Amino acid sequence: MNIEENLEKKVQVYARPNGPIIIDGDFTFEDEDGNIVKQKRMSLCRCGASRKMPHCDGSHNRVNFKS
Ligand code: FES
Repeated sequence: MNIEENLEKKVQVYARPNGPIIIDGDFTFEDEDGNIVKQKRMSLCRCGASRKMPHCDGSHNRVNFKS
């Protein structure tokens, strides 16, 4: 799948209150090593406390993140 095909599919991005950014849909994710992985859902940290950056690991609850 190339980038143009990927953009034709509906992808939703939204912020959970006091939590991560959620990406829902068919999309690809390229990590810092250049690995490209097909995804259907991803939670990205926006509190800064995750131990699995850039992914949310639930640490927003531990640090009582408020948005
Ligand atoms: S938003 Fe969940 S760990 Fe940061």
